[in-house]
Amino acid sequence: MADLDGVKDNKEFHTGVPQETAGFFLKGSSHYDWGLKNRLARIFDPKSGNTVMLAFDHGYFQGPTTGLERVDLSIVPLIPWADTLMLTRGVLRSLIPPASRPSLVLRASGGPSILKELSNEEIALDIEDAVRLNAAALAVQVFIGGEHETKSIHNLTRLVDQGLRHGIATLAVTAVGKDMVRDAKYFRLATRICAELGAQYVKTYYVEEGFDTVTSCCPVPIVIAGGKKLPELDALTMAWNAIRQGANGVDMGRNIFQSEAPAAMIQAVRAVVHGGETPARAFELYNTLKNQG
Ligand code: 5RP
Repeated sequence: MADLDGVKDNKEFHTGVPQETAGFFLKGSSHYDWGLKNRLARIFDPKSGNTVMLAFDHGYFQGPTTGLERVDLSIVPLIPWADTLMLTRGVLRSLIPPASRPSLVLRASGGPSILKELSNEEIALDIEDAVRLNAAALAVQVFIGGEHETKSIHNLTRLVDQGLRHGIATLAVTAVGKDMVRDAKYFRLATRICAELGAQYVKTYYVEEGFDTVTSCCPVPIVIAGGKKLPELDALTMAWNAIRQGANGVDMGRNIFQSEAPAAMIQAVRAVVHGGETPARAFELYNTLKNQG
């Protein structure tokens, strides 16, 4: 029987208070649908607007990369400090505890190994599986100027279409071929093409000269790849410079998992990306945590 006795009846309609329509914190993302925004808000922290993505998908074309020989031993202990894990579905299912809190960006392109032409990728994931695995975004390599440029762009646009049907974001990863110059002019071209063709965010490399021009003319958020292993202070300085020049975070792999103290390093990176710490103070934190073991 319905519980109708003693029902509280002093309703308050707040008629004089206009309903606020909250904006969305992320660059270029205000007009997306609810599910897509919610997934992006699980990648980018709504407080800082930034993300620390832990990238360990390298095995999809280069096998057991140094530091990733045993993901269960090297990466799983770092999970608590990542906002997002960027990985393959194979490693996810085999090695990552399903109770993990970070959101997931799944590697969705692949094909050639390091022994072949890398730009010759295909889409390597069905959107249904991405939904099943609760992915927040799909990552696809885009080879602007590469041998299979058009094919990689087509992979991007197909994933964007499939992702939009399900509210899953697409991360375009700008891959630079061996013969290409890594400068601001190239990255403006590559990142802008990815955004124009529908990527909800773009991963690119930091460049010393003119990185702020890359972020300023890309209408969606940019995150930087860590790239090859640098001394910890240099990697923290790169992250700090990138954030100051308009990046919304890092998608960092080797500079974390190849560090002498990976747990200390990811916490130091967080201090820069979310806490606005200077490289010097973040490096101090790294050393303190490293010495604590
Ligand atoms: C592979 C990738 C990697 O995830 C990416 O390069 C990030 O890792 P790192 O910081 O080691 O460069 O996208 O193409």
